[in-house]
Amino acid sequence: MQLKVLGSSAGGGFPQWNCNCGNCRAVRRADPAVTARTQSSICVSENGSDWVLINASPDILQQVRTTPELCPARAPRDSGIAAVMLIDAQIDHTAGLLLLRERTAPLPLYATEPVWQDLSTRFPIGPMLDHYCGVDHHSIPLEGAPFHVAGLDATSFTAIPLESAAPPYSPHRHAPEPGDNIGLLIRNESTGRQAFYAPGLGRIDARTREAMQGADLLLVDGTFWRDDEMQRLGLSPKSAAEMGHLAQSGPHGMISHLDALASDTCRKVLIHINNTNPILRDDSPERAELAHHGIEVAHDGMTFNF
Ligand code: MLT
Ligand code: MN
Ligand code: ZN
Repeated sequence: MQLKVLGSSAGGGFPQWNCNCGNCRAVRRADPAVTARTQSSICVSENGSDWVLINASPDILQQVRTTPELCPARAPRDSGIAAVMLIDAQIDHTAGLLLLRERTAPLPLYATEPVWQDLSTRFPIGPMLDHYCGVDHHSIPLEGAPFHVAGLDATSFTAIPLESAAPPYSPHRHAPEPGDNIGLLIRNESTGRQAFYAPGLGRIDARTREAMQGADLLLVDGTFWRDDEMQRLGLSPKSAAEMGHLAQSGPHGMISHLDALASDTCRKVLIHINNTNPILRDDSPERAELAHHGIEVAHDGMTFNF
């Protein structure tokens, strides 16, 4: 099966429309050490023409335009997006749902109950889409049971509830519920190989560690290098932890967790990278440090077979 990174940046994208941090300015002046990135989304397929879109980014239209696989053109109106799956209800993962409204049939949407609640009430994308294509909601189980998506019969998905953060608009923002944020174990039933995808990962508990141990490919939270990154730059009063993201550096950071994994064949890739993160510069010392630890940085269009 194939897994493709459609968007490797965090909310805001890279460059972010109103940001003048060093990285965003470098993209605007075409500095060859930085590459623009769209907002957070991946897709998976068995046959190369039917895809599960995991997270519907506000940049979905641009992502479809640059991904011919998502346009198989089997009918006058057609899309390779067979279903959408959500890992949380954050705007960077859900606003793109509104842009899929021209479908002729209801959109199969896999989301946990807390995420579907947010999208049915405070950010009513579900009720809004009922006036267009409609949504066929499938509830993602949280008890560790694998589930399947029609059209991808040899692929199983397992949700791992994560400690991260519900969106600022959610009534769960300060009263987290299991299922506000999940990671996904994506398993090729034919080969037994697995990917673990968790772009919003605030803390690595025992269950998350176990999921990471079993994976051949990790696509995990690469949002911030430092916990106080936004504060130091004067861009936000919030720490990475307050936003539900585990920073890479530091004694208990993501790098130390990735180092501690037993497997040395597993590919370790950071995704959902905020535009302030120094790892976005190919020539930065932070990027060299990642390379030293065998950790890669996702870019749009990156493809994996497993
Ligand atoms: C996050 O990942 O923390 C959010 O998507 C931030 C945002 O709303 O852009
Ligand atoms: Mn995000
Ligand atoms: Zn920036």
